[in-house]
Amino acid sequence: MKQIKAHIAVSLDGFIATSDNELEWLPNEIKSILNEQYAIADSLLMGANTYHYIFDHWGGWPYTNKQTFVVSHHNTNITPNCRVKFLVNKQLEEIYKLRHKTNLLVVGGGNLITTLIKAKLINYITIYTVPKLLGKGIKLFHDIPNCDLKLITSNILNSNIICSTYQTYD
Ligand SMILES: NC(=O)c1ccc[n+]([C@@H]2O[C@H](COP(=O)([O-])OP(=O)(O)OC[C@H]3O[C@@H](n4cnc5c(N)ncnc54)[C@H](OP(=O)(O)O)[C@@H]3O)[C@@H](O)[C@H]2O)c1
Repeated sequence: MKQIKAHIAVSLDGFIATSDNELEWLPNEIKSILNEQYAIADSLLMGANTYHYIFDHWGGWPYTNKQTFVVSHHNTNITPNCRVKFLVNKQLEEIYKLRHKTNLLVVGGGNLITTLIKAKLINYITIYTVPKLLGKGIKLFHDIPNCDLKLITSNILNSNIICSTYQTYD
């Protein structure tokens, strides 16, 4: 069985982006670390909002060298020739099947990560906590049930960001 991991940066008050989807508040160190993680992943998994954010803000599709799966209720794939596949039916079942074939790195966002944790489909989540309060924005966790996570590692990065990896279930 392969693994599903998420790597995501969050403000101290629990937001992954501002209300207008901005990520400019993220320190460059974190952007580099996240990009490295995306680069070494076997395959990427993301929600439709994150997919469209990346396409709109990064000047096209950056991950043409690896398979990306996008979870949505609608096929709004604008990069079908860039190894991007939309999962639009029985999405969680599809992800369950995929993890028998490939390791998946979940890029985001909070909506998808929440549904994956609820479905026990994420093995590990690494959270980069940025010492910044955004006040409002897009939350990491939405309406999440009570659950215990196991802290695996935690360390402080150069820009005073705490990087903690949790196992979400045994
Ligand atoms: N801070 C970070 O490290 C980081 C990382 C990645 C992204 N982001 C930011 O996060 C924001 C997007 O996050 P988000 O929480 O709004 O959205 P998201 O998780 O990227 O996408 C949510 C969408 O994914 C689809 N979806 C999710 N779970 C589903 C399921 N179980 N079944 C079917 N469809 C499902 C739905 O698409 P449909 O509505 O199309 O059906 C849903 O509206 C962006 O601003 C992005 O820049 C931040």
